[in-house]
Amino acid sequence: MALERLDKILSGQNIATRSEAKKLALKCRLEVNGKITRRSDIKVDPEKDVIVVNGVKLVYKKQLYLMMNKPSGVLSASRDRNAATVLDLLPKELRREGMFPAGRLDKDTTGLLLLTDDGELGHRMLSPKKHVYKLYSVECDKLLSEDDVTRFAQGISSGEDTFLPAAMKITGDNSALVEICEGKFHQIKRMFHAVGAEVTALKRLRIGGVYLDDSLSEGQWRELTDEEIRLITDNSIKELS
Ligand code: URA
Repeated sequence: MALERLDKILSGQNIATRSEAKKLALKCRLEVNGKITRRSDIKVDPEKDVIVVNGVKLVYKKQLYLMMNKPSGVLSASRDRNAATVLDLLPKELRREGMFPAGRLDKDTTGLLLLTDDGELGHRMLSPKKHVYKLYSVECDKLLSEDDVTRFAQGISSGEDTFLPAAMKITGDNSALVEICEGKFHQIKRMFHAVGAEVTALKRLRIGGVYLDDSLSEGQWRELTDEEIRLITDNSIKELS
């Protein structure tokens, strides 16, 4: 485990914000390996060093944040009795308690999937109020037109389905990029169905401000960087709208 700043560890573990950590240190309430530290920015190894805050030993739990390029044919669920899940693609030590795919993709959808054991993040990201934008690349069986772009932009309502306005950019006769801010069941497929098209291939390219790393081939994964973790719920990037 790499060395990390003590205040970053404490804020990551929801023990104290960085400024609270600074105050704790100044009040001699932080100890590392039995010694009081009056600085909260020293580097420590949270898995080896014994950290005590206000007299209580820190039980360090590193949270994991992974991105995977999900292959088709695998379920985005934590466990399934009959079918392979995305967790089965991870090495055993990462298939730990509480790991789940944050934001599901259909079995035949490929692309960016986030996996974490940070339930709080899952909550924030999937909250309908949060409206995290997601970008998809779509292929379908219909010649797409500006009418479809307009219908998506107006928000689609068809039968019992209603979807918020979504941006579409046509990239070929039968292909488009689509950006949505909801995460309804089979949403893209149902939106296309509503304009008379069936989706033939679907790939997620971005969630919030996090892009699928195009060096990952299908089935491969990597840890998110700290910056990417911060960007998951960042809605400032909307490349189509
Ligand atoms: N919309 C769908 O229809 N399927 C997905 O997997 C994701 C979005």
